[in-house]
Amino acid sequence: MTDRYAVIGNPVSHSLSPRIHARFAAATQQDLIYDKLEAPVDGFATAVERFFDAGGKGLNITLPFKIDAWRWVDDHDDAARRCGAVNTILRHGTISRGCCTDGCGLVTDLLDNLGWRLQGARTLMLGAGGAAQGVVPALVEAGATDLTIANRTRRKAELLAERFAVRASDLETVGDGWDVVVNATSASIDDDRVRIAPQAVAGSRCYDLFYSLQSDTAFCRWAAEHGALATSDGLGMLVEQAAAAFALWRGVQPSTAGIVAALRRGDGASPGSLS
Ligand code: ATR
Repeated sequence: MTDRYAVIGNPVSHSLSPRIHARFAAATQQDLIYDKLEAPVDGFATAVERFFDAGGKGLNITLPFKIDAWRWVDDHDDAARRCGAVNTILRHGTISRGCCTDGCGLVTDLLDNLGWRLQGARTLMLGAGGAAQGVVPALVEAGATDLTIANRTRRKAELLAERFAVRASDLETVGDGWDVVVNATSASIDDDRVRIAPQAVAGSRCYDLFYSLQSDTAFCRWAAEHGALATSDGLGMLVEQAAAAFALWRGVQPSTAGIVAALRRGDGASPGSLS
């Protein structure tokens, strides 16, 4: 019987995950279908229970439900426990396990696809919402140094920094000399950029968790104009976190080679972030 998976979010119509998982399934000869599931913002639990009651095998979770998912599942894998967010649910019988593949997806893209270095790299994280929360522990584990979370609302940066034993900063005072700058704010969704001084990105490698199929994101564009050594949007991370989720569900590691390029050549879905 064909196994059913889905990504749940709100909004979710932009999601590229069905296309990515369809490619993985075809390449690894797995019999599955993967849909999009839009739940009302206050209706996560009802929608998820309905999905699993109908025989669903696994879910990806995107905005704004990653923390709801963390609370809803029966137990957590190490990565989810460390970051306090869940982007993948595995169902075993009646037990739901929450996992988080966002951090390893980001680190795989940075190290293996882009060839950037994290060991000993002074790393600045912009933003202190769910997207930042999902990836900070993986960056620290990969060797990022002096990791500093800078946020428009400083208190949120402080809370997250306390939780992960890293530093906090205002956007105005981030300083310079960063090797890697990761934009985890949602500013790019509005084609806006984060108000930091250009010295923060000069000479650094800049990664935007947000992606756009049509053009550079506002953050990547601005960083490139202000002396960044390299820039990348988050499409590679999206594909890598999906591959890690697929491996958890199916026990088969799909190849991600060529998928980013194929998505960019595709029919131009709207911009989005993380699933
Ligand atoms: P997500 O789950 O995607 O991280 P979120 O929890 O709503 O979404 O967090 C959005 C993040 O982007 C926050 O850190 C937010 O800053 P505030 O905490 O001050 O709201 C940040 N953000 C959004 N728009 C921004 C902008 N134009 N400039 C700077 N930061 C912005």
